[in-house]
Amino acid sequence: MSGHIIDGRAQAGLLRARIAAQVVDLATRGIVPGLAVVLVGDDPASHVYVRNKGVQTQEAGMASFEHRLSAATAQPDLLALIGRLNADPAIHGILVQLPLPPHLDAGAVLGAIDPAKDVDGFHVLNVGLLGTGQPAMVPCTPLGCLMLLQDRLGDLSGLHAVVVGRSNIVGKPMAQLLLAQNCTVTIAHSRSRDLPALCRQADILVAAVGRPRMIQGDWIKPGATVIDVGINRITEGDRTRLVGDVDFDAAARVAGAITPVPGGVGPMTIACLLANTLTACCRAHG
Ligand code: GUN
Repeated sequence: MSGHIIDGRAQAGLLRARIAAQVVDLATRGIVPGLAVVLVGDDPASHVYVRNKGVQTQEAGMASFEHRLSAATAQPDLLALIGRLNADPAIHGILVQLPLPPHLDAGAVLGAIDPAKDVDGFHVLNVGLLGTGQPAMVPCTPLGCLMLLQDRLGDLSGLHAVVVGRSNIVGKPMAQLLLAQNCTVTIAHSRSRDLPALCRQADILVAAVGRPRMIQGDWIKPGATVIDVGINRITEGDRTRLVGDVDFDAAARVAGAITPVPGGVGPMTIACLLANTLTACCRAHG
């Protein structure tokens, strides 16, 4: 028996189509949602992500503004740019691509973004709103994971969710979202004792640790739903390929459903960025 493979590309396509239809409606009122993406430095993976974001923003009918800055950009200059983007009524969402070069203070930069335009949901105000169950901008990757889970399982109430990873970008907000859906939530991480035993308790297992194929097939409870957030580039022989944090082939034989890498969570992340931009735009225009 093999588990169902969750098609994140198809789900993301459906979400983008719904967003594009709403963007057409807004256009009749003369409103165009605008997303500004700020990239500092030369990280090749970040350049690919930012290009994809720009393409998909435009395909959804939104306006895309890209600011590619040198790796030597000084903190006051970056803060000044964010101040201009905050004040620009054509821009409804602002995303500063992470990681930033080490001389920049990421906390201060993220804290300078107007929380209403914080489509990443990384500003402490949005973190606090999410943590207290109030309407917030929700980080895109965990939001996409939640949508995949709800599409697959419907009501998540009472299920035991184990989130492996405690990052501010994925693990912590994922746990908050699952808690808000009445899951019993365990946050595990690299220092957790007996990680395999913890994972085996999971009806829902979300892997966000950034270690290729760390989670083995015999760590999975039969029938569990497995969401693999990992995107790890590995070299096998003379070719490189992307793998997740889960040993997919082994896990797929045990799981009830599992996301592949690529083609699982990744496409949902950008679709959720567009969804957040649309939400920010609608709030700005009442
Ligand atoms: N770098 C890796 N993931 C993300 C993300 O979700 N948002 C931003 N801004 N940077 C990232």
